[in-house]
Amino acid sequence: MEIRTTVNGKVHKVDVPANWSLADFLKQKLGLIGVKLGCEAGECGSCTVLVNGEPINSCLMLALEADGKEIETIEGMSKNGELHPLQDAFVKYSAIQCGFCTPGMILSAKALLDKNPSPTEDEIRAALEGNICRCTGYVKPMEAIMSVVKRKRS
Ligand code: FES
Ligand code: FES
Repeated sequence: MEIRTTVNGKVHKVDVPANWSLADFLKQKLGLIGVKLGCEAGECGSCTVLVNGEPINSCLMLALEADGKEIETIEGMSKNGELHPLQDAFVKYSAIQCGFCTPGMILSAKALLDKNPSPTEDEIRAALEGNICRCTGYVKPMEAIMSVVKRKRS
């Protein structure tokens, strides 16, 4: 079935199998390997992408449901060769270990900061509660995100 969707600012008009998830479409059709598939059951958040600015588990959404919508993946965050401030902070604060959760976590944080540039630590924790990280204990990712928030405040 044909869908027309915008992914990282580029319009795609493509046929997709009716049973494909949005994650299948992004990975298999568009080659966006930053979309990570862990549980494929809506539990881990590693497959998080932004759909019209909202963080969504792309393993649970059908590709057909992306018709007419705007999708953003981690590949769309850097601009003109520059990392997004959140990506930059995750690198600087060593908030990435195995990296499997990182794209989803950064996208969830981006969705929050786009709506609320000055969240509290509790609001950040709440925004990340769907993103499971087995490596970092969330300490470094929180420091990284808070550094971006503090920079915006100053
Ligand atoms: S792979 Fe989608 S929530 Fe785990
Ligand atoms: S860095 Fe390994 S799961 Fe988060």
